[in-house]
Amino acid sequence: MQTIIGTDVQAAAQILQQGQLVAIPTETVYGLAANALDEKAVVQIFDAKNRPRFNPLIMHVGSISAISQYAIMNDLAQKLAHAFMPGAFTLLLPKLPVVPDLVTAGSPKVAVRMPNHALTLALLQQLPFPLAAPSANVFGYVSPTTAQHVYDGLSGRIPYILDGGACTVGVESTIVEVVADAVVVHRVGGVNIEAIEALIGKKVQLPATTVHKPVTSGQLKSHYATTTPLIRGDVKALLAEFADKKVAIIGLNTYYEGLPKAQQYLLSVDGNLTEAAQHLFNVMRQLDGKGYDVIIAEVFPDEGLGKAINDRLERAQVLHK
Ligand code: TXA
Ligand code: MG
Repeated sequence: MQTIIGTDVQAAAQILQQGQLVAIPTETVYGLAANALDEKAVVQIFDAKNRPRFNPLIMHVGSISAISQYAIMNDLAQKLAHAFMPGAFTLLLPKLPVVPDLVTAGSPKVAVRMPNHALTLALLQQLPFPLAAPSANVFGYVSPTTAQHVYDGLSGRIPYILDGGACTVGVESTIVEVVADAVVVHRVGGVNIEAIEALIGKKVQLPATTVHKPVTSGQLKSHYATTTPLIRGDVKALLAEFADKKVAIIGLNTYYEGLPKAQQYLLSVDGNLTEAAQHLFNVMRQLDGKGYDVIIAEVFPDEGLGKAINDRLERAQVLHK
């Protein structure tokens, strides 16, 4: 199959209406989309990515009002939706029967998101169905933040990549669930925890282990992983430990002594964590092709987008422990 990269929303819509896959740009990462209401279309997503079927998919919609066709929202869910959609924000909601079990991996809840990207919103608003879409990477690898990243991983496996430029947020959406009057965070991401807490006037919670929950990516090994081993921690100590290896550093804004600057990748010279998140996956992919023995990553400040950066880097290193 030949994979075309283009900016033609009509062409993308047509391919999706025929039950085929299209990679779509969002502000977080690129998604690999299919008609969410058509199991035959959705199953191709799992095949193209080599993704296990027990890992559920996020359903993307073109408006907040469309959500009520597929899921049930209580007042707190409505409040969150209106504050953070469109945006890097996904709500886990009780699903209506129209949503196929393949999308939710058998869970009674469906993850719903309205992305904030002009091309994909235009696409969603003209389609008569929502789009199921995981990140458009081969399962387990770093998520794509450009059309070229998608092409690098999936060329020959999908007909079309809708090119919407580089993703402006750069890490995946924050996934939350409303449980009674609490907001439970399943994945830290593009919307700050601090912003959610400011809206609801209290702390968010972490998922209780007793709650029924399908396996999420966080429980799987080697997620977001580079092929080159990646290790996170105190950079000076790790530099000493790997003194005889060819190493690269991923850091925020300060160079370390004892390693050429060309081997040090700073994510934001201004120390801005939002900008750092935007560059993270691109830098991880870039470094992966450069023949390093090991990538050493800083522990970023645990605030704002720094939480999402730390989460992704921590998961990236699991494989190599
Ligand atoms: O920013 C994003 O969220 C991107 C863009 C493309 O929208 N999507 C994305 O999808 O990151 P994916 O599949 O790579 O990650 C979605 C996560 C997975 O860990 C999955 O297990 C979880 O969301 N998830 C999806 N549906 C769920 C459900 N019904 N219950 C629990 N977890 C769910
Ligand atoms: Mg993913």
